[in-house]
Amino acid sequence: MRISQPLIFLSPVLGVGALNFQYEATQLTEQEIGDFSAISFGNLSSAPSAYQGPRCKIQPEDADWPSEELWARLNTTVGGSLLKPYPVGAACYPDRPEYNSTTCSYLLGPATTSRFFMDDPLNALTTWGEGATCLQLHNTTGRTCTQGGFPVYVVNASSVRDVQAAVNFARNQNLRLVIKNTGHDFIAKSSGRGALSVWTHFLKGIEFLPEYSMDEYKGPAARMSAGIEAWEAQNAMADQGNITVVLSLEVTVGNGGGWVLGGGHGPLTSLRGLGADQVLSLNVVTADGRFVTADLNQNRDLFFALRGGGGGTFGIVTSMVVKAWPERTNIGGLTFYFTTGPGQVTIPSSRGYPAAAPVHVDTETFWKAYRAYLLFAKEIVDAGGFGFGDVTPQGNDTYVFVGTITLPNYPSDKFRAFYTPLFNALREAGVNVRNPNHAFLPYAQRGIGVTPISFPGAAADRLFISRLLPRGLWANTTRLDAVAAVNRRNAEMGYRVTTRAYGPSGVVAGYPGNTTSAVNPAMRDMVIHCVTFKQEPVDVLPAEQFRAEHLRLRARINELVALTPESGTYFNEADVLEPDWQRSFWGHHYERLLKVKRAVDPWQLFWAPNTVGSEEWEVVTADGLPTQNGPLCRKAG
Ligand SMILES: Cc1cc2nc3c(=O)[nH]c(=O)nc-3n(C[C@H](O)[C@H](O)[C@H](O)COP(=O)(O)OP(=O)(O)OC[C@H]3O[C@@H](n4cnc5c(N)ncnc54)[C@H](O)[C@@H]3O)c2cc1C
Ligand SMILES: *[C@@H]1O[C@H](CO)[C@@H](O)[C@H](O)[C@H]1NC(C)=O
Ligand SMILES: *[C@@H]1O[C@H](CO)[C@@H](O)[C@H](O)[C@H]1NC(C)=O
Ligand SMILES: *[C@@H]1O[C@H](CO)[C@@H](O)[C@H](O)[C@H]1NC(C)=O
Ligand SMILES: *[C@@H]1O[C@H](CO)[C@@H](O)[C@H](O)[C@H]1NC(C)=O
Ligand SMILES: *[C@@H]1O[C@H](CO)[C@@H](O)[C@H](O)[C@H]1NC(C)=O
Ligand SMILES: *[C@@H]1O[C@H](CO)[C@@H](O)[C@H](O)[C@H]1NC(C)=O
Ligand SMILES: *[C@@H]1O[C@H](CO)[C@@H](O)[C@H](O)[C@H]1NC(C)=O
Ligand SMILES: *[C@@H]1O[C@H](CO)[C@@H](O)[C@H](O)[C@H]1NC(C)=O
Ligand SMILES: *[C@@H]1O[C@H](CO)[C@@H](O)[C@H](O)[C@H]1NC(C)=O
Repeated sequence: MRISQPLIFLSPVLGVGALNFQYEATQLTEQEIGDFSAISFGNLSSAPSAYQGPRCKIQPEDADWPSEELWARLNTTVGGSLLKPYPVGAACYPDRPEYNSTTCSYLLGPATTSRFFMDDPLNALTTWGEGATCLQLHNTTGRTCTQGGFPVYVVNASSVRDVQAAVNFARNQNLRLVIKNTGHDFIAKSSGRGALSVWTHFLKGIEFLPEYSMDEYKGPAARMSAGIEAWEAQNAMADQGNITVVLSLEVTVGNGGGWVLGGGHGPLTSLRGLGADQVLSLNVVTADGRFVTADLNQNRDLFFALRGGGGGTFGIVTSMVVKAWPERTNIGGLTFYFTTGPGQVTIPSSRGYPAAAPVHVDTETFWKAYRAYLLFAKEIVDAGGFGFGDVTPQGNDTYVFVGTITLPNYPSDKFRAFYTPLFNALREAGVNVRNPNHAFLPYAQRGIGVTPISFPGAAADRLFISRLLPRGLWANTTRLDAVAAVNRRNAEMGYRVTTRAYGPSGVVAGYPGNTTSAVNPAMRDMVIHCVTFKQEPVDVLPAEQFRAEHLRLRARINELVALTPESGTYFNEADVLEPDWQRSFWGHHYERLLKVKRAVDPWQLFWAPNTVGSEEWEVVTADGLPTQNGPLCRKAG
């Protein structure tokens, strides 16, 4: 069964303020609020300068939890879109009223190749980050299913009014508020115990504008709703013919949500910059409940912060305008493998590009060739491309390397000329890739928004830690060799060690991406984003074991940190326990970001782990794990 949500092309509202889509014209009015003070707007001018609310956000068991009557009234305001969902995994637990083994089998089978989990109001990709309180398993003996770190109520937003009412209600009632778009966040930023969730997933619309001007920018652009996923924008591009926008590689990631707000890398990043670099303006509901536009001419601090400063922090974005290019983009690409496995090994995906036959080599040759690839990665970035270089250990000293190189606008001969030096270097190292084969494929290909990794419990739902490898390593190969040695050791310890070569330098970011934004300065000077995964699921582990596994991996990555002190890591793909995360994600921008946060959200309404200003709060969990399964409280002291 395939459930796919069709794109709704709405005609833009012209001439009325900065509205991008019709759903933004439906706004909360004083008249609608009437005597319902629970949804009245906040007043920034009279807000206290320091937080004055209760120590913990109100939980369902607290006396101050809103009455059924208040919730019902909120439901009326939001047009009946208030949901009180239970976790879908309940179907797998015999002691739950929702128990149904047919449904459970569906969740573990057909649902994983459909849009089912994408369209679920609670589902978050990271099961351990939520608290693993209702795992979908065939055998649930000895386990329970509770609401846990999932929100209690969800507003399924279909207008700006719905978002405003939810924001005002949560702020006035001292509730925890979370924002969920696709639920793809790796550390469960879109989950939270006892929370009211604003679900932006169904705010869908995309429209190309042949001519758009914003400050010095004059050229094509696209209006994009918060709920747009990469595949929907790809479909729109494919339909329109000759147009290009910068998107994520993974097609179900929320390109109008967390992806763009936290930075956003993809296949065109070394050529056109990050998702955040494309933004020309954003429409956002701020913590006071007001609907504003942020761009270079108005609300400039918000415009700075929303471009890379992290989702779930400064407001709820409803739509944006991003840069576009009046041309079709094709991408040259190829895949190659080498392995220490003597016979049968599992060959990872070629990512859609033609692959040469795997080359079987001994262990020392394998690591020599690995180093040769790392050295070459800078060339990929400098040519505007994106490189994957992943080592997967398969047991018994068997390692498989898969390399995929993609270069926008590199047709056949140009691409061959580019990669020939790499295969020469690999041959010198002892890896003779025979008949490398490549293709030149359209960047925008129609799809249905289904991937085998975007559901709970899938391969992407694994513990990992990342680090950006700075350009300086390529100027001093002693350091690069030391990094390669750490990666080798990590693979020997059973971790999957992946590298993504991309580089959104200030030059490729262009204007206005290169005006001051919150994008991590370390990303302007990077060559590789290195991500090290524990391969086995951690959501099934007892707390003590989870802690031990995390510490073990952290200790390994600390060696990379020591070798790259000038660098940091990527907010959207990072450890929930990243040490000194403020500097790691934002470098010298952090101070300004914190000032903006305090100015626009004095109520500290928006909270998610590792976001700007989040350090004053903590989720108090019974097992002490860094999950969302506990009340959100002020830190002591
Ligand atoms: C399978 C997979 C593949 C990925 N591939 C890539 C990739 O190719 N490139 C890349 O850069 N990253 C990638 N990521 C990371 C991705 O950028 C983050 O997970 C990002 O948080 C996803 O945003 P979302 O809106 O889809 O998810 P959500 O979990 O719904 O949201 C994540 C965060 O953003 C906030 N947020 C969401 N919508 C809004 C909004 N409208 N207004 C304000 N805040 C909002 C939420 O509060 C939350 O804090 C991938 C993640 C997964 C799980
Ligand atoms: C907001 O607060 C300021 C300062 O107290 C006050 O002057 C103003 O009237 C308030 N605005 C609204 C809309 O209540
Ligand atoms: C909100 O109202 C709709 C329409 O009346 C109803 O179907 C839904 O169950 C209500 N939500 C809650 C949480 O009661
Ligand atoms: C279980 O779910 C299936 C599929 O939705 C449905 O046909 C069946 O009636 C359900 N069984 C019970 C006992 O509710
Ligand atoms: C189910 O899990 C329990 C607890 O881990 C275990 O004792 C039992 O053998 C398992 N049952 C099956 C059929 O695998
Ligand atoms: C949420 O709202 C959309 C329309 O905006 C609707 O298609 C969808 O079915 C709703 N989801 C749930 C779970 O109510
Ligand atoms: C796209 O561009 C090509 C080459 O310039 C042209 O032949 C084609 O007609 C264009 N297609 C559309 C849909 O504009
Ligand atoms: C490793 O090799 C041994 C002996 O040949 C075999 O029994 C075992 O299954 C292998 N393990 C893996 C993970 O392949
Ligand atoms: C290269 O890096 C090594 C290890 O960090 C350091 O000792 C050495 O001084 C560096 N060399 C240069 C020329 O910077
Ligand atoms: C920003 O990008 C524009 C357009 O590419 C370019 O002309 C300008 O020189 C860049 N400015 C900076 C400071 O990099």
